Amino acid sequence: MKTKPEFRTFATRADWVEAAATFFYQEARSSVRTRGAFTVALSGGMTPKVVYERLALPPYLQKLNWEAVHLFWGDDRCVPPDDPASNYRMACQALVNRVPIPKENLHPIPFQASSCAEAAALFEEDLQRFFRHETRLAVSTGKKRQGPVFPVFDLILLGLGRDGHTASLFPGHTALEEQGRWAVGVPDPPSPPHIARVTLTLPVINRARTVLFLVAGADKHAIVEKIIGELDVPESPFPAARVRPAGRLVWLICYS
Ligand code: 6PG
Repeated sequence: MKTKPEFRTFATRADWVEAAATFFYQEARSSVRTRGAFTVALSGGMTPKVVYERLALPPYLQKLNWEAVHLFWGDDRCVPPDDPASNYRMACQALVNRVPIPKENLHPIPFQASSCAEAAALFEEDLQRFFRHETRLAVSTGKKRQGPVFPVFDLILLGLGRDGHTASLFPGHTALEEQGRWAVGVPDPPSPPHIARVTLTLPVINRARTVLFLVAGADKHAIVEKIIGELDVPESPFPAARVRPAGRLVWLICYS
């Protein structure tokens, strides 16, 4: 049973940032209280940078139990960690380098790989090591499992491209149809930057306990309206419309 998506629109960017940071904090607090840790996959691009910067300031800097936070990346470009196109670099500058999160709690997409396919395979191995307890539990529940087992993130942050892409899942691209792998390479992204990527797959995104879309800018208004109209279209051409987690789905939007 899919939960009904929640859409919240804000008149000012400041209100939108505060709502996003508060949401992140509340999800983290609830996950740590319940499970002793908070696993979150960060989104890339430029939109979330201000939210990451806000989380590195009071009160979140002090209130968040950073020792229990595990940061992953929902997708990244296959570039070195100091490359301006790196989502890992952006998050380090905006957040990681400013908060007391243990280095071992950072789980970037391996950037030392020789190809995006190899990076995706290495990232998948990292994920399977980290989530091995959960996935073993799922397999051992005795219930006849229908198909592959996937990790369950507490929170996955997603952005939105003007073509309806999210993470590095693009309209019409084979990566969007992947139903078994946890992460795949995208050697030929159709949208800029045209840099090979690695992305979580749709089944992983749809297993998250909570998915939060962070969308800002007047240029995203048209695509948001299109996606709202497609949310119950199972094979929508818009990847973001196919994000329908069994958990909570929230869109925080600001068009100014
Ligand atoms: C990426 C992102 C991608 C991004 C959207 C929106 O690596 O580029 O994961 O999905 O979220 O393209 O990008 P902006 O926030 O820069 O508009």
